[in-house]
Amino acid sequence: MSNFHSLEVYRIHRETPTAISVEFNVPPALQPSFSFKAGQYITLKTSVNGEEVRRAYSLCTTPNENTWKVAIKEVENGTFSTYANRKLTEGATLDVHTPEGNFIYTPSTHKGAIALFAAGSGITPIMSILKTALAYGNTVALLYGNKSVDETIFNDELMSLASKYPNFYLKFVYSQARAENALAGRIDSAAVNFVLKNQLKDVDFSHYYICGPEAMIHTVSDTLKNNGIAEDAINFELFTSSEETNKAAENISGTTRISITVDDEDFTFEMDASETILDAALKQKIDAPYSCQGGICSSCIAKVVEGKAVMEKNQILTDSEIEEGMILTCQAHPTTTSIKIDYDDI
Ligand SMILES: Cc1cc2nc3c(=O)[nH]c(=O)nc-3n(C[C@H](O)[C@H](O)[C@H](O)COP(=O)(O)OP(=O)(O)OC[C@H]3O[C@@H](n4cnc5c(N)ncnc54)[C@H](O)[C@@H]3O)c2cc1C
Ligand code: FES
Repeated sequence: MSNFHSLEVYRIHRETPTAISVEFNVPPALQPSFSFKAGQYITLKTSVNGEEVRRAYSLCTTPNENTWKVAIKEVENGTFSTYANRKLTEGATLDVHTPEGNFIYTPSTHKGAIALFAAGSGITPIMSILKTALAYGNTVALLYGNKSVDETIFNDELMSLASKYPNFYLKFVYSQARAENALAGRIDSAAVNFVLKNQLKDVDFSHYYICGPEAMIHTVSDTLKNNGIAEDAINFELFTSSEETNKAAENISGTTRISITVDDEDFTFEMDASETILDAALKQKIDAPYSCQGGICSSCIAKVVEGKAVMEKNQILTDSEIEEGMILTCQAHPTTTSIKIDYDDI
């Protein structure tokens, strides 16, 4: 059964010169399927210039708001983000996948003060987490980097949250502007330490959430680890990946007989091992789940039940999940002459 539903674009708001927010109308009958946890994303599917595109966008609203909103930042030469920013109109419909993702904040289990780090459009899942935590009465710190005030998505909403909640510490960082009370430059270890070890040195943070460019994520998480923060308290979401391709997944050739189970249906066919398992499945018109096709969103996970596969990139699965046979099918090539994959057994 497809988890995509045709939803009306209810409202579009220009947030900055290069970003819009898009709110969807989710009919009451579909709302239970679209319930989500703070930090999760939806996948939007449409056709741009005759080609089907799917892209993931994090929800910036909270699970209790009964509103489904994303913010889309236009990236240079970006197929969908340019289309959305320049051509998408209120009243249009898009196919929207039900919420998914493991970058999750639930106040009842993630107890205590939380520290948030965002840069650019990375604010979207962080906004959902931030508002959820504040509504729950938790203490929250946010370090948020942008080029300038004009480029800062949700600037006004953040300022009003900061004046409403005394337990919300907000610090902006601008790389191309100077402003009173803001830090200059980028989010680096000095900025992280300034907030955690100077401004909020008496606050005992229990969880840390980071979303932004890959380099910023590495800088913040390395700084936290150097400060003695346990790895499992640090959560991050990547929007793009520059990870190098695993050498073992290069130059794979030959033919593999593949059996795929998805939504209780079985398919068997011959595939070229130089293709990824997801590409081979899509060529056969199998309705396999996927979103980013870049090895970072996790919607294409399946289990290898028989045979072996190797992945080009993986920034999602842990070593123990890989040992259990989990693969990102958008990154995986079979390395045995036959293989069985199950999308339902995960
Ligand atoms: C889990 C998840 C959540 C996401 N949430 C959001 C969100 O809330 N808001 C948002 O704006 N985006 C978000 N993204 C990124 C989004 O899915 C798209 O990748 C992005 O909008 C670019 O799509 P595009 O079709 O315009 O670009 P493409 O046509 O796919 O790419 C065009 C070029 O831009 C580069 N590029 C792609 N994405 C980026 C980027 N983010 N920054 C810089 N360069 C890039 C590519 O390398 C390529 O060279 C998320 C991604 C993931 C995996
Ligand atoms: S489709 Fe996103 S990880 Fe494979």
